[in-house]
Amino acid sequence: MANYLVTGGAGFIGSNLTNFLAKENHVVVVDDLSMGKMENLDLSANIEFIKGSVIDVTLMRNLFKEKEFDYIFHLAAIASVADSVKNPVQTHQVNFDAVFHLLELTKKYQKMFKRFVFSSSAAVYGDEGTLPKQEESVIRPLTPYAIDKFAAEKFVLVYNNLYEVPASAVRFFNVYGPKQNPSSPYSGVISIMMDCFDKLKGNLDAKFTLFGDGQQSRDFVFVEDVIQALLLVAKSSATFGEVYNVGIGQATTLLKLIRIIENHFGIKLPIIYKEARLGDIKESFADISKLQEVGYKPKNTVSEGMKKYIEYLQKRV
Ligand code: NAD
Ligand code: UD1
Repeated sequence: MANYLVTGGAGFIGSNLTNFLAKENHVVVVDDLSMGKMENLDLSANIEFIKGSVIDVTLMRNLFKEKEFDYIFHLAAIASVADSVKNPVQTHQVNFDAVFHLLELTKKYQKMFKRFVFSSSAAVYGDEGTLPKQEESVIRPLTPYAIDKFAAEKFVLVYNNLYEVPASAVRFFNVYGPKQNPSSPYSGVISIMMDCFDKLKGNLDAKFTLFGDGQQSRDFVFVEDVIQALLLVAKSSATFGEVYNVGIGQATTLLKLIRIIENHFGIKLPIIYKEARLGDIKESFADISKLQEVGYKPKNTVSEGMKKYIEYLQKRV
């Protein structure tokens, strides 16, 4: 049994990862439940849940002194870009300072340690137009969220290169799947759509607001493939001090996405068209060849991922 720490482990990606790992390993989860939920976790003796903040230096120091981790997945963050624009100082503490502290604590206390994996974002590429996005593409972070992700990512790699803290980083594109929280207008578009379909199925009134003409496209990646990517990066000896795009390497337009979901549900989605969001990126998708070199094979097209997501929602009710 390996010993894992998953910060943000009650959130969307974190809980999917924790539930997967806890089948055969011991997992410590630190989450302040600001966005995550206890019910996301399949609680068992293998999961040790600590409600607390990663910016609480005393809590984190005691944890790092007391436990020996094999792997740390640092997923805790204020994941909303809009929140980072509203509260840049507070989000900076979580999205940057906490990463810095955790790297220091790892360096100081985790002697037998195998890997620290940091979750960065495709947001670091900003609006620079070259496609597909390669890890070496121009970086143009446009928000406090993206600046913090890029700066933290760089520190993670530097701690690997200068201080021999075994560490790697990943840049997620648009992740979707079970347990994604649709509660904010800035939640991932698929979680918002699924919330609409859920209401429509229950004969409630719901409309989806489509910003722009629906021709904008994204690299939508199912959470199962994200977990595959995280584990490969954590366990490969080729990934020390490196950063990897995580997507499926394909762009899907919103209109195509809507058609896919409508076909799965057999329900038409009522749409209200509004002006494109200010600064919205027209097209985005990842070059995933670097990750493929360490064995990554995304198993889910958008249609397959959506089918699994819908089956999960239908089983739940
Ligand atoms: P999420 O909001 O569901 O998960 C983040 C978790 O961190 C939540 O459970 C939240 O309660 C917790 N958290 C927030 N502040 C905390 C703090 N101070 N201390 C402890 N816990 C705290 O978001 P997610 O989509 O699961 O994102 C996970 C990671 O992946 C984040 O770092 C996010 O920036 C990154 N990311 C996600 C996407 C995506 O498409 N979902 C894309 C790019 C990057
Ligand atoms: C995503 C990230 C963001 C990051 C960016 C970088 C999420 C939630 N956001 O933004 O953190 O900076 O990638 O590439 O993962 N849309 C609608 N109606 C809605 C909601 C969204 O039409 O109700 C549209 C948006 O205008 C956008 C598309 O859907 O064109 C995708 O939106 P969203 O899921 O928020 O992701 P990104 O904008 O790609």
